[in-house]
Amino acid sequence: MSQRTLVLLKPDAVKRRLVGEILRRIENKAGWTIEALELRTLEREVLEQHYAEHVGKPFYEPLMTFMSSGPVVALVVEGERVIEGVRALAGPTDPISAAPGSIRGDFGTITRENLIHASDSEESAQREIKIFFPGLA
Ligand code: CMP
Repeated sequence: MSQRTLVLLKPDAVKRRLVGEILRRIENKAGWTIEALELRTLEREVLEQHYAEHVGKPFYEPLMTFMSSGPVVALVVEGERVIEGVRALAGPTDPISAAPGSIRGDFGTITRENLIHASDSEESAQREIKIFFPGLA
């Protein structure tokens, strides 16, 4: 089943020059295609939409500050079971429990600065793609 997902390479990934390494892992998956890609510093309003479900949580404000601390690379990836697949490549949110071989397992440091965001469901993917790439048909 072909799907689309929204991926963000977070400011720590850009600062640590891990963009190429992470994109290579995504491109290596047979049948996945990058449909849109942009380097962008996110405005507060965009982050508020993207992280609407986390408003009020203790990590919300530090997360907003971190996500505004430098540019991110936003991309849309299309392919077979790509929603589940990119999340598997990323590993769990907490880098300590992420297995070696996953992006967070190999490069992660702390839970907030965990290098990559990937949509967690078809509904989230649709919602998030509209936020970052409203022009994508
Ligand atoms: P992500 O899954 O992309 O979206 C929510 C983000 O909030 C998550 O990545 C982390 O960057 C951050 N986050 C989630 N839980 C915590 C936590 N317990 N402490 C700090 N940051 C968190």
